[in-house]
Amino acid sequence: MLTKMAFRSTLGHFPSGVVAVTSRDAHGEPVGMAVSSFTSVSLEPPLVAFLPSKSSSTFPIIARRGTFCVNVLAVGQEDICRALAVPGGDKFTRVSWHPGSHDDPVLDGVVAWLGCTITSVHDAGDHDIVVGHVDDLAADGSADPLLFFRSQYHHVAAA
Ligand SMILES: Cc1cc2nc3c(=O)[nH]c(=O)nc-3n(C[C@H](O)[C@H](O)[C@H](O)COP(=O)(O)O)c2cc1C
Repeated sequence: MLTKMAFRSTLGHFPSGVVAVTSRDAHGEPVGMAVSSFTSVSLEPPLVAFLPSKSSSTFPIIARRGTFCVNVLAVGQEDICRALAVPGGDKFTRVSWHPGSHDDPVLDGVVAWLGCTITSVHDAGDHDIVVGHVDDLAADGSADPLLFFRSQYHHVAAA
């Protein structure tokens, strides 16, 4: 039976990483949201995408600025993920970061980051599909990612 609960629960069986999509508001203050719906889209040109809910109060701020940074969260950054998943307020009081591509926040200790410019926003039910051109990026080859699976955080186990 395709209930909302069954949809959420079944899709929760698809494991993902977690990213913090960050940007700045009109006053230059950092904004961000925790996102698991992140994916690569195209190599040439280099495009990525994420899917913010239409109820997000943070995405309209990011859309106005037109640029964002995708921060791939590392094991141990669950607190950052939780802080960025709470609507409203100052989400960055206990998050250390530095300005990166387009001056958008790069969070300290992340596995990788990608500085992006929004190229298109597509309507998709109660979410949008946001496509961004990757302008700059870097990765830390020694850091392990934070994983999200069945509504819980996990880390990569050696095979
Ligand atoms: C692990 C995790 C993954 C999430 N993935 C998404 C997502 O892909 N899209 C989305 O809109 N919200 C997602 N959220 C929820 C948002 O982070 C949160 O609802 C939103 O940022 C609320 O704050 P806002 O109103 O400031 O946007 C996720 C939350 C968590 C904890």
